[in-house]
Amino acid sequence: MSDKATLTYNNQSIDLPVITGTENESAIDIAALRSAANLVTIDPGYKNTGSCKSAITFLDGDLGILRYRGYAIEELAEKASFLEVAYLLIFGELPTADQLMKFEMDIKANSVVDEDVKKIIDAFPKAAHPMGVLASLTSALTAFNPSSVNVDSEEDMYKAIVKIMGKFPVLVAWTMRKSQGLPIDYGSKYLDYVENIIKMMFSHPNETFVVNKSVKSALNKLLILHADHEQNCSTSTVRIVGSSHAGLFASLSAGISALWGPLHGGANQAVLEMLEAIREDGGDTAKFMLKAKDKNDPFRLMGFGHRVYKNFDPRARIIKKAADEVLEELGVDDPVLDIAKSLEKEALSDAYFVDRKLYPNVDFYSGIIYRSLGIPVQMFTVMFALGRLPGWIAQWREMRQGKEPIGRPRQIYTGATIRSYVDISKR
Ligand code: SDX
Repeated sequence: MSDKATLTYNNQSIDLPVITGTENESAIDIAALRSAANLVTIDPGYKNTGSCKSAITFLDGDLGILRYRGYAIEELAEKASFLEVAYLLIFGELPTADQLMKFEMDIKANSVVDEDVKKIIDAFPKAAHPMGVLASLTSALTAFNPSSVNVDSEEDMYKAIVKIMGKFPVLVAWTMRKSQGLPIDYGSKYLDYVENIIKMMFSHPNETFVVNKSVKSALNKLLILHADHEQNCSTSTVRIVGSSHAGLFASLSAGISALWGPLHGGANQAVLEMLEAIREDGGDTAKFMLKAKDKNDPFRLMGFGHRVYKNFDPRARIIKKAADEVLEELGVDDPVLDIAKSLEKEALSDAYFVDRKLYPNVDFYSGIIYRSLGIPVQMFTVMFALGRLPGWIAQWREMRQGKEPIGRPRQIYTGATIRSYVDISKR
């Protein structure tokens, strides 16, 4: 494999280095392009442009492969705990039993949120979208933890990591309880990480809380499946905001806002709303397939398609299987699951979708499980953020400790050329 590419332009040839990663992906390093040829590149949506080298997550969109630090998502989803996967993503190795116990204890020691945060939550209208509340509360954590992270100190970095890993689930649970008019629950240090999330979200003030094993297993799996996904929109946001040396909490808050969009993490809410609309419309999936293919119709089949996966999203396979299992275990009969399956079946044999390699993605079935767990539809993307937190932390840490420069893309200007000011009386 050649280690250089030659660009010929205006009768000038320049050699540009080609770098190759551990999975034999190659990229042209264009750092010298402007100085050598007075050229920049342009690639709206960065469909063909790498922003960084990273050792955290590997995807192969054609083969439907997803690995965290070299471990296959299928194995991790079946065998690991979410906190093990969080440790793996952030620190690069699966933890020993002692390392995991210390990580969990240090997180528990940081799971109390300043009572004044409740005043911020109370200031929001009950109907406020929880993603907007969560982004605000995450940014507000900076006010309660003003010291910025010294990324050159492993101890300082570790303290910031366990602080946000401890407090974020509390903000998620309090946001949900506020929207439901329920009293907040402070959780319990005697429960593990996922059990504690379930208690804070679902406990009832007049009942003794008992963890439902099926709910815990399903949530553990969903959080693992959402934990990282290389340079997606929200992770790229966390990295570029952090590249200005903005704090970790501020960078995460920006990532939450990016994830909110319906083309990204907001798709899991949009999928359920779409499936419900189809159900209320009589369940005519063929009608909605035609809408999805009609260029004049803004309707898209939410939960379908992916920038990288041009094969099945491996997470969608796992979630689809889990949806069947969880609904059976919980004795839930959700009619939209059947609608989802018939949509998938029709799309997988429809030329429009097959030609464009549009397959179900992580968001297509996840909402069906969230709903069966009793999570309100507006909280679905918040659950995505809860899973993605360790990935965002890992990527932010890699970017800052890798001393990456501030992100500042170039552009090609297409506006007005030089012109003189005209007095308002003459316009
Ligand atoms: C996530 O990047 C990640 O890794 C994200 C994520 C993660 O873990 O972080 O995996 C999570 O965001 C998953 C994606 C969730 N979003 C959705 O489900 C929304 C619906 N999907 C689409 O909006 C779209 O597929 C995207 C945004 C996901 C990908 O868009 P691209 O890569 O920019 O592709 P495109 O819009 O250029 O589409 C290519 C063609 C177009 O048709 P033509 O112009 O070629 O005729 O496919 C069509 C599109 O119109 N198309 C769809 C479609 N998705 C693409 N047509 C109908 N329904 C769809 N869902």
